[in-house]
Amino acid sequence: MISPKIEKALNQQVQLEAESSQIYLAMASWAEVEGYNGVSDFLYKHSDEERIHMLKLVKFINERGGHGVIPKLEQPSMKYKGVRPLFEQVLNHEIHVSEEINKLVDICLKEKDYTTHNFLQWYVSEQIEEEALARRVIDKLKLIGDDKGGFYLFDRDILTLEAAVSAGKGK
Ligand code: FEO
Repeated sequence: MISPKIEKALNQQVQLEAESSQIYLAMASWAEVEGYNGVSDFLYKHSDEERIHMLKLVKFINERGGHGVIPKLEQPSMKYKGVRPLFEQVLNHEIHVSEEINKLVDICLKEKDYTTHNFLQWYVSEQIEEEALARRVIDKLKLIGDDKGGFYLFDRDILTLEAAVSAGKGK
């Protein structure tokens, strides 16, 4: 059984993961309209992953005797200044998510809720990977600069970056 304090904190994280999914979905749609098909596929996939992060939390809260609350969401921005500023926004967002996960871990330790603490370790690892991936994408975009041919290849190959980071090559 989770305490009301832990339940509230976990539900705040449900909201943040749902917002993440929504923001990346808006980014994916923008990229698709702009014709950046690889970037768009990458962001649609990322949006789906965030929804899974949300769902895992909802199910955990419910299994532990709480109630996972499905939040109301705000409409994300529809316009982005370019692919690089978009990914800088992704990185800043993921850094914020990591900070919130760390706060949750801290609350669990203070409340001596070791079950939830254990559950959250998956999110701790996931955040390391997500931040690394966003940094890797930004590094590539910095290298490419204004080179249109470079950007064409980047857009074509962006989905393979994720596999490289997962395999530990991106850190
Ligand atoms: Fe699930 Fe990227 O935070």
